[in-house]
Amino acid sequence: MPQFLIDGNKSLRGEVFVQGAKNSVLPILAATVLCSGQCIIHNCPDILDVDFSIKILKYLGGNVFREGKSIIVNMENIKKWDVPDFLMKGMRSSIIFLGAIISRLKKARVSLPGGCQLGPRPIDFHLEAFKKMGITVKENNGHLYCKAEEKITSTNIKLPFPSVGATENIILASVFVSGEIILENAAREPEIVDLVRFLNSCGAKIKGEGTSKIIIEGVEKLHAAEYKIIPDRIAAATYMAASAITGGEVLVRNVSKIHLREIVRVLKMCKCGIIIYNDDILVKAPKRLFSIKELRTSVYPGFPTDAQALILSLMTVSKGQSIFFENVFSDRYKYVRELLKMGAKVTIDGKKAIVDGVENLNSANMLATDLRGGAALILAALKAEGTSTIGNLRHIDRGYENLEENLKNLGANIKRS
Ligand code: UD1
Repeated sequence: MPQFLIDGNKSLRGEVFVQGAKNSVLPILAATVLCSGQCIIHNCPDILDVDFSIKILKYLGGNVFREGKSIIVNMENIKKWDVPDFLMKGMRSSIIFLGAIISRLKKARVSLPGGCQLGPRPIDFHLEAFKKMGITVKENNGHLYCKAEEKITSTNIKLPFPSVGATENIILASVFVSGEIILENAAREPEIVDLVRFLNSCGAKIKGEGTSKIIIEGVEKLHAAEYKIIPDRIAAATYMAASAITGGEVLVRNVSKIHLREIVRVLKMCKCGIIIYNDDILVKAPKRLFSIKELRTSVYPGFPTDAQALILSLMTVSKGQSIFFENVFSDRYKYVRELLKMGAKVTIDGKKAIVDGVENLNSANMLATDLRGGAALILAALKAEGTSTIGNLRHIDRGYENLEENLKNLGANIKRS
Protein backbone atom coordinates (compact mmCIF):
# COMPACT_ATOMS: atom_id res chain seq x y z
CA MET A 1 0.00 0.00 0.00
CA PRO A 2 1.43 3.43 -0.89
CA GLN A 3 2.44 5.77 1.90
CA PHE A 4 4.04 9.17 2.32
CA LEU A 5 7.60 9.39 3.62
CA ILE A 6 8.13 12.82 5.11
CA ASP A 7 11.46 14.04 6.37
CA GLY A 8 10.45 16.97 8.56
CA ASN A 9 11.92 20.07 10.14
CA LYS A 10 12.20 22.13 6.95
CA SER A 11 10.70 25.60 6.56
CA LEU A 12 8.38 25.87 3.57
CA ARG A 13 8.90 28.81 1.25
CA GLY A 14 7.51 29.90 -2.11
CA GLU A 15 4.07 29.98 -3.64
CA VAL A 16 1.33 27.48 -4.26
CA PHE A 17 -1.85 27.64 -6.39
CA VAL A 18 -5.00 26.37 -4.76
CA GLN A 19 -7.22 23.79 -6.52
CA GLY A 20 -10.94 24.15 -7.24
CA ALA A 21 -13.26 23.38 -4.34
CA LYS A 22 -14.00 19.68 -3.77
CA ASN A 23 -17.24 20.47 -1.96
CA SER A 24 -18.45 22.63 -4.87
CA VAL A 25 -17.50 20.45 -7.76
CA LEU A 26 -19.31 17.38 -6.38
CA PRO A 27 -22.82 18.92 -6.13
CA ILE A 28 -22.30 20.86 -9.36
CA LEU A 29 -21.42 17.66 -11.24
CA ALA A 30 -24.57 16.09 -9.74
CA ALA A 31 -26.53 19.16 -10.90
CA THR A 32 -25.51 18.55 -14.53
CA VAL A 33 -27.97 15.62 -14.40
CA LEU A 34 -30.71 18.27 -14.61
CA CYS A 35 -29.38 20.04 -17.72
CA SER A 36 -30.07 19.48 -21.38
CA GLY A 37 -27.01 19.93 -23.60
CA GLN A 38 -23.32 20.05 -22.86
CA CYS A 39 -22.07 21.67 -19.63
CA ILE A 40 -18.47 22.73 -19.29
CA ILE A 41 -17.23 22.93 -15.71
CA HIS A 42 -13.86 24.63 -15.23
CA ASN A 43 -11.37 24.47 -12.35
CA CYS A 44 -12.25 20.88 -11.40
CA PRO A 45 -9.62 19.33 -9.12
CA ASP A 46 -8.08 16.01 -10.11
CA ILE A 47 -9.06 14.05 -6.98
CA LEU A 48 -10.61 10.66 -6.25
CA ASP A 49 -14.01 12.07 -5.25
CA VAL A 50 -14.28 13.75 -8.66
CA ASP A 51 -13.31 10.47 -10.36
CA PHE A 52 -16.15 8.82 -8.45
CA SER A 53 -18.62 11.51 -9.53
CA ILE A 54 -17.56 11.06 -13.16
CA LYS A 55 -18.07 7.30 -12.84
CA ILE A 56 -21.59 7.86 -11.46
CA LEU A 57 -22.46 10.28 -14.29
CA LYS A 58 -21.18 7.78 -16.87
CA TYR A 59 -23.08 4.92 -15.22
CA LEU A 60 -26.28 6.99 -15.46
CA GLY A 61 -25.71 7.30 -19.21
CA GLY A 62 -23.80 10.56 -19.43
CA ASN A 63 -21.16 11.49 -21.94
CA VAL A 64 -18.40 12.81 -19.68
CA PHE A 65 -14.75 13.60 -20.29
CA ARG A 66 -11.96 15.70 -18.89
CA GLU A 67 -9.91 18.29 -20.74
CA GLY A 68 -7.22 19.48 -18.35
CA LYS A 69 -9.00 21.12 -15.42
CA SER A 70 -12.36 21.16 -17.22
CA ILE A 71 -15.02 18.47 -17.20
CA ILE A 72 -17.42 18.32 -20.12
CA VAL A 73 -20.73 16.66 -19.30
CA ASN A 74 -23.73 15.87 -21.42
CA MET A 75 -26.56 14.11 -19.55
CA GLU A 76 -29.12 14.43 -22.38
CA ASN A 77 -29.37 10.62 -22.74
CA ILE A 78 -29.59 9.68 -19.08
CA LYS A 79 -30.91 6.11 -18.92
CA LYS A 80 -30.48 4.80 -15.40
CA TRP A 81 -32.13 6.03 -12.21
CA ASP A 82 -30.08 4.07 -9.68
CA VAL A 83 -26.55 4.40 -8.29
CA PRO A 84 -25.05 0.96 -7.62
CA ASP A 85 -23.49 0.03 -4.29
CA PHE A 86 -19.87 0.06 -5.42
CA LEU A 87 -20.16 3.68 -6.59
CA MET A 88 -22.26 4.83 -3.66
CA LYS A 89 -19.96 3.34 -1.02
CA GLY A 90 -16.85 5.10 -2.34
CA MET A 91 -17.99 8.60 -1.48
CA ARG A 92 -20.46 9.96 1.04
CA SER A 93 -21.36 12.91 -1.13
CA SER A 94 -22.77 10.50 -3.72
CA ILE A 95 -26.04 10.97 -1.76
CA ILE A 96 -26.27 14.31 -3.60
CA PHE A 97 -27.16 12.35 -6.75
CA LEU A 98 -30.40 11.31 -5.05
CA GLY A 99 -31.96 14.80 -5.29
CA ALA A 100 -30.69 15.29 -8.82
CA ILE A 101 -31.95 11.94 -10.16
CA ILE A 102 -35.40 12.33 -8.56
CA SER A 103 -35.66 15.80 -10.02
CA ARG A 104 -34.89 14.58 -13.52
CA LEU A 105 -36.49 11.11 -13.59
CA LYS A 106 -39.04 11.26 -10.73
CA LYS A 107 -37.57 8.14 -9.17
CA ALA A 108 -34.22 7.05 -7.77
CA ARG A 109 -32.61 4.11 -6.04
CA VAL A 110 -29.35 4.37 -4.11
CA SER A 111 -27.63 2.54 -1.30
CA LEU A 112 -26.68 4.36 1.88
CA PRO A 113 -23.49 6.38 1.38
CA GLY A 114 -19.80 5.84 2.31
CA GLY A 115 -17.00 8.44 2.69
CA CYS A 116 -15.19 9.75 5.77
CA GLN A 117 -16.20 8.18 9.06
CA LEU A 118 -16.76 11.19 11.31
CA GLY A 119 -19.30 9.61 13.59
CA PRO A 120 -22.84 8.78 12.56
CA ARG A 121 -23.69 10.76 9.44
CA PRO A 122 -27.40 10.25 9.01
CA ILE A 123 -29.45 11.60 6.10
CA ASP A 124 -32.72 11.94 8.00
CA PHE A 125 -32.97 15.70 7.24
CA HIS A 126 -32.71 14.98 3.51
CA LEU A 127 -35.37 12.30 3.64
CA GLU A 128 -37.81 14.19 5.90
CA ALA A 129 -37.63 17.14 3.51
CA PHE A 130 -38.22 14.88 0.50
CA LYS A 131 -41.31 13.47 2.18
CA LYS A 132 -42.67 17.02 2.71
CA MET A 133 -42.15 17.61 -1.01
CA GLY A 134 -44.42 14.68 -1.80
CA ILE A 135 -41.63 12.20 -2.54
CA THR A 136 -42.23 8.66 -1.29
CA VAL A 137 -39.17 7.28 0.49
CA LYS A 138 -38.71 3.59 1.25
CA GLU A 139 -35.71 2.13 3.02
CA ASN A 140 -34.96 -1.55 2.63
CA ASN A 141 -31.76 -3.50 3.39
CA GLY A 142 -29.48 -0.47 3.17
CA HIS A 143 -31.15 0.75 -0.02
CA LEU A 144 -33.32 3.80 -0.55
CA TYR A 145 -36.12 3.95 -3.10
CA CYS A 146 -37.61 7.37 -3.84
CA LYS A 147 -40.53 8.16 -6.09
CA ALA A 148 -42.09 11.52 -6.91
CA GLU A 149 -45.37 12.57 -8.47
CA GLU A 150 -45.19 14.14 -11.92
CA LYS A 151 -44.33 17.44 -10.18
CA ILE A 152 -42.69 18.04 -6.80
CA THR A 153 -45.15 19.75 -4.42
CA SER A 154 -44.73 23.34 -3.20
CA THR A 155 -43.97 23.46 0.50
CA ASN A 156 -42.03 25.15 3.31
CA ILE A 157 -39.17 23.21 4.87
CA LYS A 158 -37.26 24.13 8.00
CA LEU A 159 -34.08 22.13 8.59
CA PRO A 160 -33.41 21.10 12.24
CA PHE A 161 -29.71 21.99 11.60
CA PRO A 162 -28.21 23.85 8.63
CA SER A 163 -26.84 20.71 6.97
CA VAL A 164 -24.78 21.34 3.85
CA GLY A 165 -25.71 18.08 2.12
CA ALA A 166 -29.41 18.36 2.97
CA THR A 167 -29.54 21.95 1.69
CA GLU A 168 -27.92 20.87 -1.59
CA ASN A 169 -30.12 17.81 -2.01
CA ILE A 170 -33.30 19.81 -1.36
CA ILE A 171 -32.25 22.49 -3.85
CA LEU A 172 -31.51 19.86 -6.51
CA ALA A 173 -34.79 18.03 -5.90
CA SER A 174 -36.76 21.33 -6.04
CA VAL A 175 -35.57 22.89 -9.29
CA PHE A 176 -38.65 21.73 -11.29
CA VAL A 177 -41.25 22.19 -8.49
CA SER A 178 -44.68 23.44 -9.55
CA GLY A 179 -44.78 26.62 -7.48
CA GLU A 180 -42.01 27.16 -4.98
CA ILE A 181 -40.09 25.56 -2.13
CA ILE A 182 -39.08 27.78 0.77
CA LEU A 183 -36.14 26.35 2.67
CA GLU A 184 -35.41 27.80 6.11
CA ASN A 185 -32.38 27.26 8.34
CA ALA A 186 -30.48 26.43 5.16
CA ALA A 187 -26.69 26.06 5.18
CA ARG A 188 -24.87 29.25 4.13
CA GLU A 189 -21.54 27.73 3.04
CA PRO A 190 -19.82 29.22 -0.05
CA GLU A 191 -20.24 25.87 -1.80
CA ILE A 192 -24.04 26.24 -1.55
CA VAL A 193 -23.73 29.66 -3.16
CA ASP A 194 -21.60 28.12 -5.91
CA LEU A 195 -24.18 25.39 -6.59
CA VAL A 196 -27.03 27.93 -6.78
CA ARG A 197 -25.05 30.21 -9.09
CA PHE A 198 -24.39 27.27 -11.41
CA LEU A 199 -28.07 26.26 -11.41
CA ASN A 200 -29.19 29.86 -12.03
CA SER A 201 -26.74 30.12 -14.91
CA CYS A 202 -28.62 27.12 -16.39
CA GLY A 203 -31.99 28.89 -16.06
CA ALA A 204 -33.06 27.93 -12.51
CA LYS A 205 -34.82 30.54 -10.34
CA ILE A 206 -33.27 30.32 -6.89
CA LYS A 207 -32.90 33.23 -4.45
CA GLY A 208 -31.36 33.68 -1.03
CA GLU A 209 -28.19 31.61 -1.44
CA GLY A 210 -25.67 32.51 1.26
CA THR A 211 -28.53 33.32 3.68
CA SER A 212 -30.50 30.92 5.81
CA LYS A 213 -33.67 31.30 3.69
CA ILE A 214 -33.50 29.93 0.17
CA ILE A 215 -36.47 30.19 -2.19
CA ILE A 216 -36.63 27.88 -5.18
CA GLU A 217 -39.18 28.84 -7.81
CA GLY A 218 -39.82 25.95 -10.20
CA VAL A 219 -38.84 26.15 -13.87
CA GLU A 220 -39.76 23.80 -16.75
CA LYS A 221 -36.24 22.87 -17.78
CA LEU A 222 -32.56 23.75 -17.42
CA HIS A 223 -30.21 24.43 -20.29
CA ALA A 224 -26.47 23.77 -20.25
CA ALA A 225 -23.90 26.29 -19.06
CA GLU A 226 -20.18 26.92 -18.77
CA TYR A 227 -19.12 27.53 -15.19
CA LYS A 228 -15.97 27.94 -13.07
CA ILE A 229 -15.71 26.33 -9.62
CA ILE A 230 -14.60 28.52 -6.67
CA PRO A 231 -11.20 27.93 -5.00
CA ASP A 232 -11.03 25.27 -2.29
CA ARG A 233 -10.96 27.08 1.07
CA ILE A 234 -9.86 23.99 3.01
CA ALA A 235 -7.00 23.18 0.62
CA ALA A 236 -5.98 26.85 0.97
CA ALA A 237 -6.17 26.53 4.77
CA THR A 238 -3.96 23.42 4.56
CA TYR A 239 -1.16 25.27 2.74
CA MET A 240 -1.52 28.26 5.07
CA ALA A 241 -1.20 25.88 8.03
CA ALA A 242 1.83 24.17 6.41
CA SER A 243 3.57 27.55 6.26
CA ALA A 244 2.61 28.29 9.86
CA ILE A 245 3.77 25.00 11.39
CA THR A 246 7.11 24.87 9.56
CA GLY A 247 8.17 28.44 10.42
CA GLY A 248 7.76 29.18 6.72
CA GLU A 249 6.74 31.97 4.40
CA VAL A 250 4.28 30.84 1.75
CA LEU A 251 2.15 32.79 -0.67
CA VAL A 252 -1.09 30.88 -1.12
CA ARG A 253 -2.50 31.88 -4.50
CA ASN A 254 -5.92 31.79 -6.14
CA VAL A 255 -7.95 31.98 -2.95
CA SER A 256 -11.17 33.69 -1.98
CA LYS A 257 -10.13 35.84 0.99
CA ILE A 258 -13.71 36.24 2.23
CA HIS A 259 -14.06 32.46 2.59
CA LEU A 260 -10.84 32.35 4.62
CA ARG A 261 -11.71 35.03 7.18
CA GLU A 262 -11.88 32.59 10.11
CA ILE A 263 -8.63 30.83 9.14
CA VAL A 264 -6.87 34.19 8.89
CA ARG A 265 -8.30 35.27 12.26
CA VAL A 266 -7.02 32.12 13.96
CA LEU A 267 -3.57 32.22 12.33
CA LYS A 268 -3.21 35.84 13.44
CA MET A 269 -4.01 34.71 16.99
CA CYS A 270 -1.08 32.27 16.66
CA LYS A 271 1.04 35.33 15.77
CA CYS A 272 1.45 34.52 12.10
CA GLY A 273 2.05 37.55 9.91
CA ILE A 274 -0.65 37.65 7.25
CA ILE A 275 -0.70 39.85 4.17
CA ILE A 276 -3.83 39.71 2.03
CA TYR A 277 -3.65 40.66 -1.64
CA ASN A 278 -6.54 40.37 -4.12
CA ASP A 279 -6.63 36.61 -4.61
CA ASP A 280 -3.52 35.64 -2.68
CA ILE A 281 -2.59 35.38 0.99
CA LEU A 282 0.96 35.42 2.37
CA VAL A 283 1.47 33.52 5.62
CA LYS A 284 4.67 34.30 7.50
CA ALA A 285 5.18 32.14 10.57
CA PRO A 286 6.70 33.31 13.85
CA LYS A 287 9.65 31.42 15.39
CA ARG A 288 7.17 29.57 17.56
CA LEU A 289 3.39 29.58 17.21
CA PHE A 290 1.32 30.97 20.07
CA SER A 291 -1.56 28.91 21.37
CA ILE A 292 -5.15 29.99 20.79
CA LYS A 293 -7.27 30.10 23.90
CA GLU A 294 -10.35 28.45 22.49
CA LEU A 295 -11.61 27.33 19.10
CA ARG A 296 -15.19 26.25 18.45
CA THR A 297 -16.18 24.78 15.11
CA SER A 298 -19.45 25.94 13.68
CA VAL A 299 -21.41 26.30 10.47
CA TYR A 300 -20.40 29.04 8.00
CA PRO A 301 -19.47 31.83 8.60
CA GLY A 302 -18.07 30.28 11.81
CA PHE A 303 -14.84 28.30 12.02
CA PRO A 304 -15.10 25.31 9.63
CA THR A 305 -15.06 21.81 11.09
CA ASP A 306 -12.99 20.75 8.07
CA ALA A 307 -10.12 22.93 9.32
CA GLN A 308 -10.31 21.77 12.96
CA ALA A 309 -7.71 19.02 12.53
CA LEU A 310 -5.35 21.37 10.67
CA ILE A 311 -5.30 23.97 13.45
CA LEU A 312 -5.19 21.37 16.21
CA SER A 313 -2.09 19.92 14.57
CA LEU A 314 -0.47 23.38 14.67
CA MET A 315 -1.34 23.79 18.33
CA THR A 316 0.52 20.61 19.29
CA VAL A 317 3.79 22.58 18.91
CA SER A 318 2.55 25.98 20.09
CA LYS A 319 3.50 27.83 23.23
CA GLY A 320 0.79 27.14 25.82
CA GLN A 321 -2.58 25.43 25.96
CA SER A 322 -5.43 25.48 23.44
CA ILE A 323 -8.95 24.16 23.84
CA PHE A 324 -11.07 22.95 20.95
CA PHE A 325 -14.81 22.27 20.77
CA GLU A 326 -15.97 20.22 17.79
CA ASN A 327 -19.61 21.20 17.44
CA VAL A 328 -20.51 19.86 13.99
CA PHE A 329 -19.49 16.17 13.99
CA SER A 330 -19.54 13.84 16.98
CA ASP A 331 -16.39 11.84 16.17
CA ARG A 332 -13.90 14.09 14.48
CA TYR A 333 -10.81 13.55 16.65
CA LYS A 334 -9.85 10.06 15.41
CA TYR A 335 -6.57 11.34 13.92
CA VAL A 336 -5.46 12.53 17.39
CA ARG A 337 -4.41 9.00 18.43
CA GLU A 338 -1.89 9.13 15.54
CA LEU A 339 -0.61 12.55 16.68
CA LEU A 340 0.01 11.09 20.14
CA LYS A 341 2.56 8.71 18.54
CA MET A 342 4.57 11.83 17.67
CA GLY A 343 4.67 13.00 21.27
CA ALA A 344 1.77 15.46 21.01
CA LYS A 345 -0.07 16.14 24.28
CA VAL A 346 -3.78 16.07 23.57
CA THR A 347 -6.67 14.97 25.79
CA ILE A 348 -10.08 14.30 24.33
CA ASP A 349 -13.29 14.54 26.31
CA GLY A 350 -16.33 14.21 24.05
CA LYS A 351 -16.49 17.27 21.82
CA LYS A 352 -13.65 18.95 23.75
CA ALA A 353 -9.92 18.56 23.04
CA ILE A 354 -7.22 20.07 25.25
CA VAL A 355 -3.88 20.56 23.57
CA ASP A 356 -0.72 21.35 25.53
CA GLY A 357 1.92 22.56 23.12
CA VAL A 358 5.32 20.80 23.16
CA GLU A 359 8.68 22.11 21.84
CA ASN A 360 8.84 19.61 19.02
CA LEU A 361 7.37 16.36 17.72
CA ASN A 362 9.20 13.12 17.01
CA SER A 363 8.75 11.16 13.79
CA ALA A 364 6.30 8.24 13.75
CA ASN A 365 4.55 5.70 11.52
CA MET A 366 0.94 6.76 11.15
CA LEU A 367 -2.25 6.00 9.26
CA ALA A 368 -4.64 8.60 7.89
CA THR A 369 -8.05 8.11 9.50
CA ASP A 370 -9.99 10.51 7.24
CA LEU A 371 -9.31 13.25 4.71
CA ARG A 372 -8.62 16.30 6.90
CA GLY A 373 -7.26 14.21 9.77
CA GLY A 374 -4.77 12.82 7.23
CA ALA A 375 -3.78 16.35 6.23
CA ALA A 376 -3.24 17.19 9.92
CA LEU A 377 -0.77 14.28 10.19
CA ILE A 378 1.12 15.57 7.15
CA LEU A 379 1.41 18.99 8.81
CA ALA A 380 2.77 17.44 12.00
CA ALA A 381 5.22 15.29 10.03
CA LEU A 382 6.47 18.37 8.16
CA LYS A 383 7.37 19.87 11.53
CA ALA A 384 8.79 16.77 13.26
CA GLU A 385 12.46 15.78 13.47
CA GLY A 386 13.23 12.67 11.39
CA THR A 387 11.27 10.63 8.86
CA SER A 388 7.59 9.89 9.41
CA THR A 389 5.36 7.65 7.34
CA ILE A 390 1.66 8.15 6.66
CA GLY A 391 -0.40 5.33 5.18
CA ASN A 392 -4.06 5.01 4.06
CA LEU A 393 -3.44 7.65 1.42
CA ARG A 394 -6.77 6.96 -0.28
CA HIS A 395 -8.35 9.25 2.34
CA ILE A 396 -6.01 12.11 1.41
CA ASP A 397 -6.29 11.48 -2.34
CA ARG A 398 -10.05 11.90 -2.10
CA GLY A 399 -9.64 15.63 -1.63
CA TYR A 400 -6.14 16.95 -2.37
CA GLU A 401 -4.84 17.49 -5.87
CA ASN A 402 -1.06 17.23 -6.37
CA LEU A 403 -0.41 17.53 -2.65
CA GLU A 404 3.08 16.07 -2.60
CA GLU A 405 4.17 18.01 -5.72
CA ASN A 406 2.89 21.25 -4.21
CA LEU A 407 4.64 20.61 -0.89
CA LYS A 408 7.87 19.57 -2.65
CA ASN A 409 7.83 22.81 -4.62
CA LEU A 410 7.70 24.64 -1.29
CA GLY A 411 10.81 22.77 -0.12
CA ALA A 412 9.26 19.85 1.77
CA ASN A 413 10.97 16.50 1.69
CA ILE A 414 7.98 14.27 0.92
CA LYS A 415 7.65 11.29 -1.35
CA ARG A 416 5.13 8.57 -2.08
CA SER A 417 6.49 5.07 -1.93
C1 UD1 B 1 -20.40 18.70 4.18
C2 UD1 B 1 -19.00 18.67 3.63
C3 UD1 B 1 -18.00 18.32 4.71
C4 UD1 B 1 -18.18 19.27 5.89
C5 UD1 B 1 -19.63 19.35 6.36
C6 UD1 B 1 -19.86 20.41 7.41
C7 UD1 B 1 -19.31 18.01 1.32
C8 UD1 B 1 -19.09 16.98 0.27
N1 UD1 B 1 -18.93 17.69 2.56
O1 UD1 B 1 -20.69 17.39 4.65
O2 UD1 B 1 -16.69 18.44 4.17
O3 UD1 B 1 -17.40 18.81 6.97
O4 UD1 B 1 -20.48 19.65 5.24
O5 UD1 B 1 -19.45 21.65 6.94
O6 UD1 B 1 -19.77 19.10 1.04
N2 UD1 B 1 -26.83 15.64 9.97
C9 UD1 B 1 -27.88 14.91 10.47
N3 UD1 B 1 -28.87 14.50 9.60
C10 UD1 B 1 -28.81 14.79 8.26
C11 UD1 B 1 -27.70 15.53 7.77
C12 UD1 B 1 -26.72 15.94 8.66
O7 UD1 B 1 -27.99 14.64 11.66
O8 UD1 B 1 -29.71 14.39 7.52
C13 UD1 B 1 -25.76 16.08 10.90
C14 UD1 B 1 -24.42 15.39 10.62
O9 UD1 B 1 -24.37 14.12 11.23
C15 UD1 B 1 -23.44 16.38 11.17
C16 UD1 B 1 -24.10 17.73 10.88
O10 UD1 B 1 -25.49 17.44 10.67
O11 UD1 B 1 -23.31 16.20 12.55
C17 UD1 B 1 -23.54 18.45 9.68
O12 UD1 B 1 -23.60 17.63 8.55
P1 UD1 B 1 -23.72 18.19 7.06
O13 UD1 B 1 -23.67 19.68 7.07
O14 UD1 B 1 -24.87 17.54 6.41
O15 UD1 B 1 -22.37 17.64 6.42
P2 UD1 B 1 -22.18 16.98 5.01
O16 UD1 B 1 -23.09 17.61 4.00
O17 UD1 B 1 -22.18 15.50 5.15
